[in-house]
Amino acid sequence: MNDEIEPILIGEVDDIDVGSVENFEYDDVNYAIYRLESGFFATEGNCPCAEKTLLSESSIEGEELECPTCGNKFSIVSGDSISDLEQTPLKIFDITEEDGNLYLNI
Ligand code: FES
Repeated sequence: MNDEIEPILIGEVDDIDVGSVENFEYDDVNYAIYRLESGFFATEGNCPCAEKTLLSESSIEGEELECPTCGNKFSIVSGDSISDLEQTPLKIFDITEEDGNLYLNI
């Protein structure tokens, strides 16, 4: 088994505006890539509930996202659900910046 983390090139740092989220698909899996005032973050790309809403369609306020389907709020930094404590947290992923490029470490 290979436990090494594989850095995947997402694109250039300037491809994403501060305060926004973009979907990134890799190997048929969606990831949500966020650029906040505090830096870059990545979570799973679909809501963990049965609706599987694409999180790149959510609205961002500070370090929180609001699900466009149900209005539930999650922390983009920790993945924790804020408004519905029963909701499964979002999986979060490490993201790194090098020479103007962004990499997802999965
Ligand atoms: S639709 Fe899943 S949390 Fe909103």
